[in-house]
Amino acid sequence: VLSIGVQGDGQVEHPSGRLYVPLTVPGDRVRARIVGTRGDGFAAEVIELLEPGPDRAQPPCPHFGRCGGCAFQHVADRAYVDWKLGRLETALARAGWRDVACAPLARTPPGARRRATFAAVRPRRKPGSPGEGVAIAGFHARRSHDIVDLGVCPVLDPRIVALLPPLRQTLSQVLHPGERTQVTVIAADAGLDVVMDWPEHLPFALREHLTKLALEADLARLSWHRNGTETTEPLVVRRPVRTRFGTVPVDLPPGCFLQASRAGEEAIVAAVREGLGGSRTVADLFCGVGSIALPIAAGGTRVHAVDVDGEAIGALGHAGRSLAGVSTEVRDLFARPLWPEELRLFEGVVFDPPRAGAEAQARQLSQSSVPVIAAVSCNPESFARDARILAQGGYHLERVTPIDQFLWSPHLEFVAIFRR
Ligand SMILES: C[S@@+](CC[C@H](N)C(=O)[O-])C[C@H]1O[C@@H](n2cnc3c(N)ncnc32)[C@H](O)[C@@H]1O
Repeated sequence: VLSIGVQGDGQVEHPSGRLYVPLTVPGDRVRARIVGTRGDGFAAEVIELLEPGPDRAQPPCPHFGRCGGCAFQHVADRAYVDWKLGRLETALARAGWRDVACAPLARTPPGARRRATFAAVRPRRKPGSPGEGVAIAGFHARRSHDIVDLGVCPVLDPRIVALLPPLRQTLSQVLHPGERTQVTVIAADAGLDVVMDWPEHLPFALREHLTKLALEADLARLSWHRNGTETTEPLVVRRPVRTRFGTVPVDLPPGCFLQASRAGEEAIVAAVREGLGGSRTVADLFCGVGSIALPIAAGGTRVHAVDVDGEAIGALGHAGRSLAGVSTEVRDLFARPLWPEELRLFEGVVFDPPRAGAEAQARQLSQSSVPVIAAVSCNPESFARDARILAQGGYHLERVTPIDQFLWSPHLEFVAIFRR
């Protein structure tokens, strides 16, 4: 095995093509078999580890290997960090930049991830077994729709893991045999905020079971997301789902975006703040509920915060009402990015788009006179495209801060500072 690919699998160059071999590390010698095609080569699986590479480590989780949540627990920490930094370097090189000043990787410790989406199913009764199956809940197995019934998870906030047993109990009562659902859990300061996917309408009996779960598990709120729609309705609200961004308290709307960990969020804000330096007026584009806008505004900067999600903007506006200089706007920035004329108002811009990136907004920024831009990205590929657009408009990439919010996964986030 020569290297590790972008999805965390070991790569082997074989006369018949490239093989992707999960759960291997560079230097491993393995006997493997091809199990299918994949991209430009083949997917393979290990039959036998003949000789371990130097960077093997003991995985801390008993589910590792089968669970699709983690890809890197078998890799020594130094090699893991080098892989993440290498991924960033490749993305920057693709956008035309080499030897960019890079801050050390900001780490998120185990047990700190505060957002998870679990899959759950109530299995059908097996022939010969006495009753219908007990529901199982956890992450999907690697490259599979099977669900790993999680007992422990060293990555998640322990409050989220502790919800799994009562959740299974409730789902065993409310799911039909063979029925599946998805449950998103956020561990906020005020307690757990749970959103359950459900089709069409909620039968009354089901509401009763869910209310009981909310009481017994002491949830802050339990909501219902109607499958295939944007609608998320609170079902039980026991206290406001309050968190704070910097020193500013915010009540989160159900189903809103929240950075995966407090440590990651703080690292993003610190890097943005440092990059935007003395900018007195800032636009925060794709601002969500204001994890960046509010702490920056609390420091005395005037911030205009824009997002397509009206509920998130409502929560941000409400939280920011005590701060001078917070304005908000609901706007689809893919269809209607801020134009150069509007951007003239700002001494700095931060944008933190979804995985698709911010192509339309980057085009407008490239024609603007904004002196400094902080680009937050969770996708090196879309970032490379947007960064090239900024470069064509005369921006220079000054510095990047890599942030590892998704411990032991192939994901990487970073903040890049561009200056005219
Ligand atoms: C990665 S999140 C970042 C949120 C925020 N910066 C934070 O740290 O919490 C991406 C945000 O982009 C918003 N978004 C997605 N598509 C959008 C669009 N077309 N126009 C404006 N905002 C959009 C989402 O609502 C979400 O809040």
